Amino acid sequence: MTDLALLNCRQLVTLAGPARARTGAEMRELAIVPDGALLARGGRIVSVGTRAEIERLLPAGAQVVDAGGRIALPGFVDAHTHPVFAGNRADEFEQRAEGATYAEIAARGGGIRATVRRTREASERDLAAAARRYRAWFLRGGTTTIEAKSGYGLTLEGELKILRVIRQLDTEGSLRMSPTFLGAHEVPDEYRARRSAYIRVLIEEMLPAVRREGLAESCDIFCEPSVFPVGEARGILEAARSLGFRIRVHADQFSSDEGSLVAAALGADTADHLEMTTERGLDALAAAGVQPVLLPASVYCLGSGRYPAARRMIERSLAVALGTDFNPGSSPTTSMPLVLSLAVTQMKLTCAEAITAATVNAAYSLRRGETIGSLEPGKLADFAIHDCDDYRELICFFGRDTAHSVYINGVLQNV
Ligand code: NIG
Ligand code: FE
Repeated sequence: MTDLALLNCRQLVTLAGPARARTGAEMRELAIVPDGALLARGGRIVSVGTRAEIERLLPAGAQVVDAGGRIALPGFVDAHTHPVFAGNRADEFEQRAEGATYAEIAARGGGIRATVRRTREASERDLAAAARRYRAWFLRGGTTTIEAKSGYGLTLEGELKILRVIRQLDTEGSLRMSPTFLGAHEVPDEYRARRSAYIRVLIEEMLPAVRREGLAESCDIFCEPSVFPVGEARGILEAARSLGFRIRVHADQFSSDEGSLVAAALGADTADHLEMTTERGLDALAAAGVQPVLLPASVYCLGSGRYPAARRMIERSLAVALGTDFNPGSSPTTSMPLVLSLAVTQMKLTCAEAITAATVNAAYSLRRGETIGSLEPGKLADFAIHDCDDYRELICFFGRDTAHSVYINGVLQNV
């Protein structure tokens, strides 16, 4: 088994702590080791300490990675992405600058449905090639795991094609992917006049097939009065849950307290977005132990200025997580450093709270907190050396992807 020692980190940001998502004041505790180091064997961390402590344990022949006095963090865990699609929507981006809204563009057949039309035409091979290009972008920001949704096929074959691309990339030993089925992302063109027929296909054909092929861990839905309103959302999610899927919900992005209440009622793992959630929705999420996944880059890109009430969530002991929401429409970014910047400047998280939300809390939102999200003995050696002197600098000097080098399972990635 190969031994790998990471030495000479000005700050090794470990996030060591209780084996669960962190809440309240715990979110400010990063367990930083000054002049830190770690030792990994066969892709797993065996020891974490100061440089002097790790050098004493150094086995002959270990591969030594010298961080050169930079900082090292656990790889970011991006809790919400849509990484497999064809084409882009730069035209809509410009239309929004000229005054059109995301909802108006969607109502005239653009938005998600425009990407669906292009993605249906693309081959599995071309989609995989595009996704490999985006994978390199995620790595440059220091991300080592993403939650990855389907949702641009909206036919049985189209959704399976996307989920197979996610599985293929996940097996390539680079960026880890946690797959989510999002067949309920939108009602596709051919079912606009008979939406209940689409919901039947979702429940009776797509969900069982995805389950049979083991292609997704979770099921998500875009719960919104103009997309899948509460009544439909409940039916679809209950069917998913009874098949054994875990639940995530696009909730309250454009309207208040529908998605959040559905997520709470179903005991979802996460409610994502939450820009419009009121105290009532927050109380329901807190009572049900649902984790908020906040996506400030989509607020930024849509230009609405309405960021979710992150401080009120932390005050309520909600275990906040962060994600990019990478997709070709509302949030075309793979950059967790950008998301951290927005979390601090726009949502008023402290730098430490933002890093906790982007690592250990995001990992627990994916039920992977036992293996990733912090640098502790027993966990996978997924870490990034960032070109910074202080963890706050990673966030404060915004607009650059800071990763100097990235390791997944103790293996250096091409960044
Ligand atoms: O999370 N809101 C729905 N889904 C995505 C947008 C996807 C798209 O515009 O293509 C989101 O923002
Ligand atoms: Fe999304």
